[in-house]
Amino acid sequence: MAFTKKLKQLFASTPKKSNWDGLIEEYKPWLPVTKKTPIITLKEGGTPLIEVKSISDRIGKEVKVYVKYDGLNPTGSFKDRGMTMAISKAKEAGCEAVICASTGNTSASAAAYASKGKMRSFVVIPDGYVAQGKLAQALVYGAEVLAIKGNFDKALNIVRELSDKYPITLVNSVNPYRLQGQKTAAFEIIEYLGNAPDWLCIPMGNAGNISAYWMGFQEFFQAKKSKQLPRMMGFQASGSAPLVEGKSINNPETIATAIRIGNPVNKEKAFLAKESSNGKFSSVTDSEIIDAYKILGKEEGIFCEPASAASVAGLLKIKNEVPSKATIVCVLTGNGLKDPDCAIKNNDSIFHTGIDAEINAITKIMGF
Ligand SMILES: Cc1ncc(COP(=O)(O)O)c(C=O)c1O
Repeated sequence: MAFTKKLKQLFASTPKKSNWDGLIEEYKPWLPVTKKTPIITLKEGGTPLIEVKSISDRIGKEVKVYVKYDGLNPTGSFKDRGMTMAISKAKEAGCEAVICASTGNTSASAAAYASKGKMRSFVVIPDGYVAQGKLAQALVYGAEVLAIKGNFDKALNIVRELSDKYPITLVNSVNPYRLQGQKTAAFEIIEYLGNAPDWLCIPMGNAGNISAYWMGFQEFFQAKKSKQLPRMMGFQASGSAPLVEGKSINNPETIATAIRIGNPVNKEKAFLAKESSNGKFSSVTDSEIIDAYKILGKEEGIFCEPASAASVAGLLKIKNEVPSKATIVCVLTGNGLKDPDCAIKNNDSIFHTGIDAEINAITKIMGF
């Protein structure tokens, strides 16, 4: 009897989260929301932090590497973290339509959350440079898609002007609510590890996400929820590396279309994150990105998009600088299913076609 009572008490004192209600509900005191804010959510956030031994082993030195798999958000990218905030605040302000420029993921996310919030969404994309999965999402979620003959940077200038002139809310990462939502990924990492990692490795395009993570790490550090701040290690593709080269790039080019951005709007914030964290910005070639993409798929069972693999490619590139026993988190920003063309063209698997539908024909190929 006494034992049963003890057991009951033990369970009663261990609060269990039975449901994840989305990151606004989860981190309300840390976010600029009030009782009046209508929460538009698809239950984003709460994504897994996965240890990736194949990467740790390539570095050695008893280093532990994890990936924050944000490609498991509702629309398959980290953008959902920012979008739940941006769309909820737009709804609170009475807005009826939103607009964004996008390399693909922002458009998918904006379209989904706008539909959930019963708003119109307009997305301006660079014609021919958006991965098929992302375009498919924006269309199915009901966006009005405008493909322009120009790159992301031109698209962003256009939507900024349109949102200044017309009653339509801009939901790119210049919208401060986006970064507020995105900072929650840093909270989740600290809660999982019990501290901030030694390094955070992250791909950079417009540099909103690195700025958001830095904000999140700082807030939890100041609240004594972590004992340290991480070094912020940002990576760009070498054909599209304005933050590494310290100048805008007119015609950025990379296989990682999500980070094909020549003039990042959050550059000041990103440089501040780098300087205050004693971090570093480096570039990786497309072939280094693809190598990391393949390792994650084949050795870890993790399918991310090429832009996301830049964080792991970057870590492997500077592995000699990693201190012994370091804990490192690489952010995998988007899901590999977003870009099937890249996957089909870049893998080391064997794809036999045109085989007769007979056991014998199949076993012969299998080598039995
Ligand atoms: C998959 C993916 N990774 C990384 C980035 C870069 O994020 P940020 O523009 O916040 O630097 C993007 C931006 O579109 C993205 O879609």
